[in-house]
Amino acid sequence: MSASSVDEQLLQRALELARAGIGLASPNPYVGAVIADVDGNIVGTGTYTYSGIRHAEVLALEAAGNKARGGTLYINLEPHAHQGRTPPCTDALIAAGIRRVVASMPDPNPKVSGLGFEKLRAAGVHVEVGQLKDEARRLNEGFARYIRHGTPLVTLKAAMTLDGKIAPPPSEALKADAGIPTGGWITSEIARAHVQELRHQNDALLVGAGTILSDNPLLTDRSGRVRRRPLLRVILDSRLRVPLDSRLVKSVAEGRTNDVLIFYASADEQKRAKLEELGVRVEKLPAVEADGRPDLQAIFRRLGTLEITSVMIEGGATVNWAALAANAVDKVFLFYAPKILAGTGSIPFAAGAGFHHLNQAAQVKHLQLHRFGEDFAVEGYLRAPYGE
Ligand SMILES: NC(=O)c1ccc[n+]([C@@H]2O[C@H](COP(=O)([O-])OP(=O)(O)OC[C@H]3O[C@@H](n4cnc5c(N)ncnc54)[C@H](OP(=O)(O)O)[C@@H]3O)[C@@H](O)[C@H]2O)c1
Repeated sequence: MSASSVDEQLLQRALELARAGIGLASPNPYVGAVIADVDGNIVGTGTYTYSGIRHAEVLALEAAGNKARGGTLYINLEPHAHQGRTPPCTDALIAAGIRRVVASMPDPNPKVSGLGFEKLRAAGVHVEVGQLKDEARRLNEGFARYIRHGTPLVTLKAAMTLDGKIAPPPSEALKADAGIPTGGWITSEIARAHVQELRHQNDALLVGAGTILSDNPLLTDRSGRVRRRPLLRVILDSRLRVPLDSRLVKSVAEGRTNDVLIFYASADEQKRAKLEELGVRVEKLPAVEADGRPDLQAIFRRLGTLEITSVMIEGGATVNWAALAANAVDKVFLFYAPKILAGTGSIPFAAGAGFHHLNQAAQVKHLQLHRFGEDFAVEGYLRAPYGE
C-alpha cells in the first residue's frame, strides 16, 4: 500500500473515532485521533467527549506510551496550542516525541486557528493538513457555526409527499370523512429511523405550537444512543397555547427532564406558572411587531448562549416559512415519500407569503441525495456553515 493510502486509511479511522463523540462532545468539536508508530502500526487511539475532558490526541498518547516516540498522529482537527479546560495538546505531542502530524483541517475557531500547527512546526514536527478535508469540515459544521457566530447551525427538516405536502388537511376540515381511519406516517420506518439519527446529531429540536396541538408529539431522541445532555425540545408558542396534558408537557413533568423550553411573547400568568411548576422552562422574548411572535433570530441567539451548537426545525408549515423568511436556515434535510396528497386543503411544506419571484427563491447548494427504501431525502445548504 502506498504511503498516501495508508495516511488516508488512518485518517479515516480518526474520523470514525471522532464520530463516536456525536452526542457526547458538544458544545466542543468532534475529534478522533490515531497514533501510528514508526512502522505504521496503530499504537493508540482516542475520542474526545466533553465529560471525559481529556482531548483525543492525549488519550491516544496515553494509550501509546513510549511507542509514540518517532510516530505519527492522525487527527481530523488541528491540535490546540492554548490553555483551555486542558493544557495545550501541542506540548504533550512534542514532549512525547511525535515526529509527524497528519490533520484534516485547522481549528474553525478564528481565535486559535493555525496556532497549533505553527507551534508543532516550530518544534520541528512535520505537519500535513487537508486530507479528507470535506468529510472533516462536514462533521464539525455545527461547532464551526457556533464558534464563529455564537449561534447554532439550523437544519430545516421535513417529511413530505412528492407534491410537497407535509400533512393532510386538518381534522376539523374533514368532518365529512367521519368514519374513515386517519393517522399513519408520510415516510417509511427506515426514513423515520434516520430522523432519530438526525435528532441524535443535534443539540435541540424546534417546532411550532401548531404541531404540538395537531400531532401531540413527544420530540425525543429515540436513536438509542447515549447523549451527554438531553435533546432540548424548543417550542415556539407566543401565547402559551400548549396543553398541560400534552405528551410533551407530561413527559417533562413525569421525567423531571428539564429539557422543554417554550419561547413566548405574552401570556396568561397563571398558565406560565403552571407550566413552570410542571418543569417546563418558559422564556419571554420580545415580539416582532408584524405578528406578535417571538423573533426567530433572537431565539437562535438565546440558544447560542445556552451552548446549543445545532438545532433541527421539525415544522410545521408556519414555522418552516418563518425560518426561511427570517433567513435563519443553514441547511435542509427534506424527506420525500412516493405519495401524492394533492388538494388545496393539505398542508404545504412552508405556508406563508412565500418568495414572490423565482430570482428570490432560496437556493439550495451542495446537494446530496439519500435513499431510504422507497423514500429519498435531499440534503443541501442555504448558507455555508463556515461562513465563506
Ligand atoms: N411532515 C412533517 O415533516 C411535519 C412536521 C411537523 C408538522 N407537520 C404538520 O404541520 C401542521 C402544523 O403546521 P402549522 O403551520 O399549523 O403549525 P406550526 O408551524 O407547527 O406552528 C405554528 C404556530 O407557531 C407559533 N409561533 C410562535 N412563534 C412563531 C414564530 N416566530 N414564527 C412562526 N410561528 C410561531 C404560532 O402560533 P402563536 O401565534 O399562537 O404563537 C404559529 O401559529 C400539522 O398538520 C402537522 O402534522 C408536518
